[in-house]
Amino acid sequence: MTQAPSPSAAGSVATARKAVIPVAGLGTRFLPATKAVPKELLPVVDKPALQYIVEEAVRAGLPELLMVTGRGKEAIADHFDRQPELEAALEKKGDIARLSAVRHASELGAMHFVRQGEARGLGHAVLQAASYVGHETFAVLLGDDLIDSRDRLLERMLDVQQHRGGSVVALLEVPRQEISKYGCASVRETEEEDVWAVTDLVEKPDPDVAPSTLAVIGRYVLSPSIFDALRETPPGSGGEIQLTDGIRALVGRGEPVHGVVFRGRRYDTGDRLDYLKAVVRLAVDREDIGPEFRNWLNGFVAGGA
Ligand code: UTP
Repeated sequence: MTQAPSPSAAGSVATARKAVIPVAGLGTRFLPATKAVPKELLPVVDKPALQYIVEEAVRAGLPELLMVTGRGKEAIADHFDRQPELEAALEKKGDIARLSAVRHASELGAMHFVRQGEARGLGHAVLQAASYVGHETFAVLLGDDLIDSRDRLLERMLDVQQHRGGSVVALLEVPRQEISKYGCASVRETEEEDVWAVTDLVEKPDPDVAPSTLAVIGRYVLSPSIFDALRETPPGSGGEIQLTDGIRALVGRGEPVHGVVFRGRRYDTGDRLDYLKAVVRLAVDREDIGPEFRNWLNGFVAGGA
């Protein structure tokens, strides 16, 4: 259902329709697997991680999708395209289940692509979406950050953005020693238990000086004013243009930025350990292979497999 856009304080429309999915990163943490295969296409059971993310965007009511891709990522466009030869072969074999799975990936939404010539950071990747997004509020979903479909985060963020305007980030409480891997938010409480007003942000802080243990994770609903902020953002941590620094500039200008605290299941599939957890977690709950896998896993944990 399309809702009538209404202007917000930041001059944007209040209802997001477009999702931007950056997938141009180098995936160095997963080498050598990601030398020729985009990390976003690594399978979680039998679907690429990225397909779960596209499905999440569509489910949340964002049918317009822009992938920010780069060199060596051509297989991503192929995955979401039609495959007439494969479809014909499956049809001939009468393999209807696989045929519909293959077709489903190409029918998910209106998919667009733009290239990020050099992997100069997440903020730089988002900046490549400026002309596609225009003056609308939009969502960003990181292509390797998998949120379990049973835990609704993006829907809640879109809801908070509609009611409060401005931009919304997703926050996850992490152990203090891990905060240096993330953007970290300084916050002030609101009358809603899961919503915080963001008062400052810092990228990858030292645990000793981090202002909180609230980490920014890979879902954002952003005002289009982020593009001006990013254009003025110099390279930060790691020499990259950080999205966190762009959002921090919005806070500095007095634009509302809120954080929704997420307490569900989330996996960074670009991280080897988290990737394995995602595969196991989703596999044990599958109707087809779940019971047998769970059985094997129980034996394995007991030392018998
Ligand atoms: P990451 O920081 O996890 O990606 O970015 P990375 O740089 O590929 O990771 P490592 O550390 O080398 O393993 C999160 C998302 O943002 C995209 C990535 O593709 C990933 O989906 N990204 C990152 C870009 O599109 N462009 C960039 O310049 C950086």
